Amino acid sequence: MWTICCSTLISLRKSLLTIHWQALSSGLTRAFLSYSLFTMGVNNMQKVLVLLTLVMCCWASMAKAEYFKYKDPKQRLGVRIKDLMKRMTLEEKIGQMTQADKSVASKEIIKKYNLGSILSIPFPTSLPAQGASPKTWVDMVNDLQSGSISTRLGIPMIYGIDAVHGHNNVYNATVFPHNVGLGVTRDPVLLKKIGAATALEVRATGIPYVFAPCIAVCRDPRWGRCYESYSEDPKIVKLMTEIIPGLQGDISVGSRKGVPYVEGQNKVAACAKHYLGDGGTHLGVDEGNTIIDAKGLFSIHMPAYYDSIIKGVSTIMTSYSSWNGVKMHKNRFLVTDYLKNTLKFRGFVISDFQGIDRITTPPNANYTYSILAAMNAGIDMFMVGFTYEDFITRLTYLVKNKFIPMRRINDAVKRILRVKFTMGLFENPLADYSYAKYLGCQEHRDLAREAVRKSLVLLKNGKSVENPLLPLSKKTSKILVAGSHADNLGNQCGGWTIQWQGLSGNNLTAGTTILSAVKTTVDPRTQVVYSENPDDKFLKSNKFDYAIVVVGEYPYAELLGDSSNLTIPEPGPSTIKRVCGSVKCVVVLITGRPVVVQPYVETIDALVAAWLPGTEGQGVTDLLFGDYGFTGKLARTWFKSVDQLPMNVGDPHYDPLYPFGFGLTTEPRKK
Ligand code: BGC
Repeated sequence: MWTICCSTLISLRKSLLTIHWQALSSGLTRAFLSYSLFTMGVNNMQKVLVLLTLVMCCWASMAKAEYFKYKDPKQRLGVRIKDLMKRMTLEEKIGQMTQADKSVASKEIIKKYNLGSILSIPFPTSLPAQGASPKTWVDMVNDLQSGSISTRLGIPMIYGIDAVHGHNNVYNATVFPHNVGLGVTRDPVLLKKIGAATALEVRATGIPYVFAPCIAVCRDPRWGRCYESYSEDPKIVKLMTEIIPGLQGDISVGSRKGVPYVEGQNKVAACAKHYLGDGGTHLGVDEGNTIIDAKGLFSIHMPAYYDSIIKGVSTIMTSYSSWNGVKMHKNRFLVTDYLKNTLKFRGFVISDFQGIDRITTPPNANYTYSILAAMNAGIDMFMVGFTYEDFITRLTYLVKNKFIPMRRINDAVKRILRVKFTMGLFENPLADYSYAKYLGCQEHRDLAREAVRKSLVLLKNGKSVENPLLPLSKKTSKILVAGSHADNLGNQCGGWTIQWQGLSGNNLTAGTTILSAVKTTVDPRTQVVYSENPDDKFLKSNKFDYAIVVVGEYPYAELLGDSSNLTIPEPGPSTIKRVCGSVKCVVVLITGRPVVVQPYVETIDALVAAWLPGTEGQGVTDLLFGDYGFTGKLARTWFKSVDQLPMNVGDPHYDPLYPFGFGLTTEPRKK
């Protein structure tokens, strides 16, 4: 009887309620007790009374099973956000706006402070372990997530990481060429595929959010982050935003402009960075000042943001740099008035790592002021890193004392929740292990190899047009491979690989160096001699048919990469001079930007700009040996000397060594 009564009630309420199973089961226990009484020999009146009690009891337990609209994926996005917002306390809201570094996070801390997001920065303490497997990553992310979903409202945190050329912090991931190389390809279809591959590799480690792409327009190669930029030309950077639908999926036609979009479990939320003008700083100083009028700012640095927003980018990161002396982290006009109100961007704006600290000089001189200024500017999520507690205390104070209006907090939290709901994080907060197979898989490595082929630029081929050196012959007696970057995977990958500043050597991750690619490409009878920096005696005592010299910049990132002279570090220049002085040579440059080459060009027979190609060194040999032809065209101007800088295509003083768009071609050798 009680079962019938309960099931009737359930069916009646099913369409209206999400059953709270815990409450229901305790209701059933009570019902069972009542039923036992019922069967223990009582008179009819008592039976009726007990039955009534039983019905009431069932109903009461059903009514207790509260229905949370925000948990119901069938509800409209706006309804879910509204429902959740009205349940949240100020503490919970501020927690959502806080992104802490993994090194200081635990599930207990996440729960205690309601942290909305965690990130891994490329530092050993911020990663689960050196060389961690996908399983270790997933376990770590899920463990932290269990802290979020056990909070009062169960709002999942969003885990973010820099995946700026593939899933670059993770051992064994496919490392794609840095953006400076990808810009050369001018191939949005390729970029979209790279985005899709990166998304799968990131998901392999249980992570749903990447701080990429960097859509900086680098106007001065002295900038240490120039390799994170696709081009000096805003049109190319704009074209390359096609990586966003690769990462996030294709937004449906007719979607409201500015809405964030993430297709599902095999995609990740993207982040266009660094808003705005990061690539335009005076003298190319990292985090410096971009001195330019509004027309210049909007025509050079803004266009790629228009496209990113149209493509549904979920988040945008503010830049450490300033525009005409005003720090971007406190620029209300560009963040709130323009990005949010004019462009109708409806995802969330995230600050850069400790970016708000740098609003003051020296950084962190007045943290409360920094929080106030950044909040007023319109930042929604704060990448505070280690100081989550301090941030939360001060922001809470500012709100409670009415320095920051509640509507600003609500704007931020709504945006964060919008991204989380859209990407299905509430339905699938925990990652599974099924994506592990994608990390560094052959298909992605083949794609990276294709990207390498398309990103190389042939700057010189033979001392005369009639006498080209490339493609090199595979079948010959003895060849030399030389240079600091020939057998060095770390140098080949550059900064933002396994560690922030990158690493030299071959132990950082799995991949193919140019030397090993040469060895597997040439005919087995061709003798390949490798000498990193051969001396004259060695060169004279051997009879090499030709030499491949691979030299360039050593890995660097951000501030540490700024260079005022842009020279190739020693022993690169000496190796070039010595080897090319005695053997016919092709020089392959591994650099994050154009560097000073004019003094050596005469001695060199063939010159290739390979940028920072990543783990797939065979892409380089595919072209050197003619399995494919060179097609790449410079997406940057190659200067003669640094005193010409800044010098970009279209400038009145334009007098480059190799102009923007330059690139020799070769035909693939007939098989
Ligand atoms: C960089 C960002 C990066 C962040 C997190 C900052 O130093 O400027 O591009 O996303 O660190 O690693």
